[in-house]
Formats: sequence, structure tokens, C-alpha cells
Amino acid sequence: MKALVLAGGSGTRLRPFSYSMPKQLIPIANTPVLVHVLDNIRDLGVTDIGVIVGNRGPDIEAALGDGSRHGVKLTYLLQDAPRGLAHTVAVARDFLGDDDFVMYLGDNVLPEGVAATAEAFTVRRPAAQIVVHKVPDPRQFGVAELGPDGEVVRLVEKPAEPRSDMALVGVYFFTSAIHRAVDSIRPSARGELEITDAIQWLLASGAEVRATQYDGYWKDAGNVEDVLDCNRYLLERLAPAVAGHVDAASELVGTVVVEAGARVTRSRIEGPAIIGAGAVVEDSHIGPHTSIGRGCLVSDSGLENSIALDEASVSGVRGLRSSLIGRAASVGATEQGAGRYRLVVGDHTRVEVTV
Ligand code: TTP
Repeated sequence: MKALVLAGGSGTRLRPFSYSMPKQLIPIANTPVLVHVLDNIRDLGVTDIGVIVGNRGPDIEAALGDGSRHGVKLTYLLQDAPRGLAHTVAVARDFLGDDDFVMYLGDNVLPEGVAATAEAFTVRRPAAQIVVHKVPDPRQFGVAELGPDGEVVRLVEKPAEPRSDMALVGVYFFTSAIHRAVDSIRPSARGELEITDAIQWLLASGAEVRATQYDGYWKDAGNVEDVLDCNRYLLERLAPAVAGHVDAASELVGTVVVEAGARVTRSRIEGPAIIGAGAVVEDSHIGPHTSIGRGCLVSDSGLENSIALDEASVSGVRGLRSSLIGRAASVGATEQGAGRYRLVVGDHTRVEVTV
């Protein structure tokens, strides 16, 4: 079996970060989403992985290389524009050949893995085996209507009146039967080749499509709130480890990771939290649920439920909550006096202050 990981797309919901980096490299607990994805695929015993990339392909290649560091072999496949999930299967046609494959959206976080679905697919080999997850409000998802025995009866994209609460998770297993389906469908109203239409085509042609329910944590790390949510979840699973230097005047509470070369001085770190390699934290209160990236500088500040990306600096600001601070961004106190603000804010950024 091969894997096809989707790391193209436009990432509009994650602006401004997606202006300067592919959203699949956003760090969750200081590890890019895409690395969490590759780990899950390797855990299935699948190592031959095609990675769909768009115009940010060079950043992804620079971060992951040939995959050997993560125990997998990566082949990069360029999609000229985000023309839909089913279009990526056509782009990967030569790479996939006639092999079975797992298609995995590169921004999906499923820490409990998809081994049960992989097993069900391998044993029975239906044309498609999808993963579904019970959600409270299915209207914003692709939804699967299921028969009594796990067979899929119908798929509907974002139904106004859902007849099922089973949303499609971004992991799909296919035999080579999917290629005819992809070749047969037309672009949807939004101009994309939809994978749900391809699977629906399989159903209409009489092919077997099955579903497995995934009960673990699932999020598509596609907007700021969901990135912070994933960060909270994955930080909870860390094992405490202190490789950097923590001075006697500092206090670590709960699960805290201090990576090599980080320095924590006169600060309180409340876990779960991670301080990245080479970061400096002084006279500050970090956490809970906070990731400080590599090479960050945090002084006289307080951050909770937040992520600071690599090389960011925060100085003289207490009370930062639920914030995502970009690479090498700088957040500091103004010298213009209390109640005054000075902002240098890029396109599509978001600032919330209490006045
Ligand atoms: P989406 O999150 O549905 O789309 P997007 O990346 O364009 O994001 P937004 O809605 O914020 O603009 O895509 C799911 C995953 O599939 C994501 O990792 C990007 C990837 N993808 C491709 O590789 N090619 C495509 O044509 C599309 C639509 C998505």
C-alpha cells in the first residue's frame, strides 16, 4: 500500500500565517502538523508516500527532505493549483500505479491513528473505505449515510438537513477503482473535483464503499481556534523532559518540556507546556497549554493557551491568551503610556485589545 498526503491547497482560513508558510507546517506542540501525519502513516507500515504540494512546495521539501528522518520515503508531486481533493488523485496517477493507497489530508490531526480502518480495508478491500466521526453539527462537513453493516449508502457535502451525524474525516483508503471515478466526475459548483463526488460515483456504479467510525480526537487544523485546540490536546500527551537550563528561581508545574539549549530564568512554567530549543524565557509566566517555539525570547510577559512560532519575541506584555504569534514576530509594550497602543499589523491579521 502507498500513501498520498495532501499538502497543497490555499489555506485562506489560516491567514496571515499561510501567506508566508504552508499551513501544514504550522507547529502543534512544536512539531509541524505534517510530521504528525507522516508518523501516523508510518505506524500503519506504509512508507512509500506521495506528497501533493502547491506553490509552497519548496518550504515543505526544505522541512521534510526525502523523509528518511521520519522513517519514510517521500515523492513530491506538484499540483498546479488547488483544483480539489479528487484532482490530487489524478495528479498522482503515475506515482500510485494500480496500488491500493491511503489518502490523508495534510492538515488533519488524529492522534489515536487509523489502524482499525486500515485493518478493515486490508481484510475486505472494498473500492473505498472512509473514516467517519460523530459530530454535534454535521452541516459544515461531508456526511455519510450508513447502512446497518457499516456500508455507505450515500454521501452528502454540507447538507442543510443532515440525515446522519457521521462526518467524513480526512483519511480515505482506496483501491485503484478510484481512478475511473476521478476520470468520470465533473468539477462541482465551486469549481473543484470533489472526492465525495468520486466516492458517490463508485456507489452509483455498484462498487462497495464502507465506513469505520473513529472515536478519538479529530480536528482539521485549518483555522486559528482549531490549531490552538490541537495544541492543547497534543501538549496533554507529552512526557515531561528538561534538557535545557532552568534556574533555581524558576518553577515548573505539571508536564513541562524544556528543549535543549533553552534557558528559563525567574519564571513559572505551568504545564502542559513546551519551551523550544534555544528559547529564552525570563521573568515570565508561561502556560498552561502553551508552546514556545525555537529561538523565541519571552521576557516580563505572560502567555496562556498560546503558540509562539520560532524566533518570535514577547516582551513586557502580561495577560496574552489564546494567541498565535508568527515567526520572528514581535509583541511588546509601548512606551507611549498606559491605554495607548501602537500596531504594525500585516494583511489579514487580527488584533484584539480591551479598551
Ligand atoms: P482544505 O482545508 O479543504 O482547503 P484549503 O487548504 O484550500 O484551505 P482553506 O479552506 O482555508 O482555503 O484542504 C484540505 C487539505 O487538502 C489541506 O491540507 C490542503 C489540501 N489540498 C490540496 O493539496 N489540494 C487541493 O486542491 C485542495 C482543495 C486541498
